[in-house]
Amino acid sequence: MTTARELFEALRLGAIDLTHRVVHAPTTRLRADTDESPSAMMIEYYRQRASKGGLQITESAHPSHDSRGYLGAPGIYTQAHVDAWRKITDAVHAKGSQIVMQIAHCGRHSHVGLSGGRAPIAPSVVPFETQVLTQDGWMPNSPHRAIELWEIPVLVESFRIAAVRAKEAGFDGVELHNANGYLVDTFLQDGTNKRTDAYGGSLENRARFSLEILEAMISVWGPGRVGVRVSPSGQWGNISDSNPEATFGYFAARLNEYELAYLHIIEPRIKGAEVSQRSVAVATLRNIFRGPIIENDYLAFPFAN
Ligand SMILES: Cc1cc2nc3c(=O)[nH]c(=O)nc-3n(C[C@H](O)[C@H](O)[C@H](O)COP(=O)(O)O)c2cc1C
Repeated sequence: MTTARELFEALRLGAIDLTHRVVHAPTTRLRADTDESPSAMMIEYYRQRASKGGLQITESAHPSHDSRGYLGAPGIYTQAHVDAWRKITDAVHAKGSQIVMQIAHCGRHSHVGLSGGRAPIAPSVVPFETQVLTQDGWMPNSPHRAIELWEIPVLVESFRIAAVRAKEAGFDGVELHNANGYLVDTFLQDGTNKRTDAYGGSLENRARFSLEILEAMISVWGPGRVGVRVSPSGQWGNISDSNPEATFGYFAARLNEYELAYLHIIEPRIKGAEVSQRSVAVATLRNIFRGPIIENDYLAFPFAN
């Protein structure tokens, strides 16, 4: 872990050079306009928090209308979204900071009222109940359906196009949201992935969707401007894995095939008011992944090492 003194030392995250290590974690705030464009309030939010030489990671932005899971979350799939995000990247750059866009598909965490009537999707149908914020208030999530094999390249392509749009909007890189039980995470973990095709079963198969998306993002940005966020100790959203240490260890090892900007690890030490029963220590993944790691436990500041 970074010490207080090291916090103010320079760091290279792939192709992203920082003069200090204070990184703004991605924090969903649901302040987008009704067309899912970043609002004036969001420009001010990021501008206020930009710090010379530092890095901001945006709240998650969705690559298509039906991939959102929260009313008020921003999109990155229209020219209007690109133009509005550009105001944010300009404001952040004017203060000498850099900014990376987190891209997320919410998967089974959604409601037909948010997705134009389309059922939420997941690798497999596994019973799951949550509440979703819609225009009619908090509602039980809609039943999800299993993704057909032919849809997978379409989904991968939606992330690639979002990465292209992020580039057009002036970002310094992109981060794949592979955490918190959203779509990509539900492929990786075996509690939610019961597929019997090339995207389920073995560790290699379960990691395939994530890696295909990362490769699509890398095709746009080069590896040094692509990061990935995981939550190996997370249990939020009923996510589960029979052996998280093996799953995330394997995934971290596979990431060594690319020279990514960073691996971003959420390490919640609490679940509600209790200490989490599931714990994959950052130190375990630190021994496997050879690139920079950003660690964020949401109880303290995020540190990079
Ligand atoms: C453990 C944990 C991980 C989170 N990860 C993300 C994330 O990767 N991306 C994101 O947009 N929001 C994430 N969130 C949600 C934001 O932290 C939350 O919406 C935000 O802090 C709310 O800020 P506000 O109360 O100022 O509106 C996470 C929350 C927790 C507790």
